[in-house]
Amino acid sequence: MMRVVLAITGATGAIYGIKFLEEAKKAGLETQLILSNSAKRTIELETDYSLDAVGKLASCQYPHNDIGAPPASGSFPHQGMVVAPCSMKTLSAIAHGHADNLINRAADVAIKERRKLVLVVRETPFSPIHLENMLKLSNLGVIIMPPVPSFYNKPKTLEDVIRQTTGRIFDQLGIENSLVKRWSETNKHLNLTDELAV
Ligand SMILES: Cc1cc2nc3c(=O)[nH]c(=O)nc-3n(C[C@H](O)[C@H](O)[C@H](O)COP(=O)(O)O)c2cc1C
Repeated sequence: MMRVVLAITGATGAIYGIKFLEEAKKAGLETQLILSNSAKRTIELETDYSLDAVGKLASCQYPHNDIGAPPASGSFPHQGMVVAPCSMKTLSAIAHGHADNLINRAADVAIKERRKLVLVVRETPFSPIHLENMLKLSNLGVIIMPPVPSFYNKPKTLEDVIRQTTGRIFDQLGIENSLVKRWSETNKHLNLTDELAV
C-alpha cells in the first residue's frame, strides 16, 4: 500500500489538504496526517469540517509537536510528503532546515532521504523572501506547487477548481487519478489550424 505523509499548515486553503485526504482514502492510500496549530484555526474558520472529522479521514494522525513520531525518522518508509496548503512560515522553516516541529522535521527528512516532497505554497503576492525560499527548495528537487487554478478545463464550481489541483498533486506523486480534466480531453473540439486561419 502506498503511504503518504500529509501536513496541513495555516495558509488559507485548508480545503486542499482535506480534499487530498478524502481522495486518498477513496484511492486506498495510507495517509499520515499532521496538522499545525494554525491549520486547526483555518480549518475551523474556513470549512464546515470539525477537526475530529478531518482526523478521521486519515489512516493516522500525530500531534504537531511530537518530534518522536514515525515521520520524524528516515527509517520510516513512505512514498512522499505533501504540505497542502503550505504557509510561508513553514516554507521558510523547510528551506532553512529548521526542524522544530513534526511537519518541518518530516519535510527535512524527506529532503535528506531524497523522497518526493510537494509544497502547495499559498500566499499572494510573493515577497523576494518567499521566492528565494521556493527557488532554493526547487533546486533541491522539491515540487513547488501553488494552487493556481487552470481555466482550459472550464471549471464551473469551486469544487471543480479544488478537484483539479488535488488531481495535479496526485500526478506529482505518480498516482493515477481521474480528478484532473486533462488538456487532451478539453481541447478535442478545438481545431487550432482553423482558429489561426481566421
Ligand atoms: C485565515 C488565515 C489565513 C492565512 N493565510 C495565509 C496564507 O495564505 N499564507 C501564509 O503564508 N500565511 C497565512 N496565514 C498566516 C499563518 O497562519 C501564520 O503565518 C502561521 O504562523 C503559520 O504557521 P504554520 O506554518 O505552523 O501553520 C493565515 C492566517 C489566517 C488566520
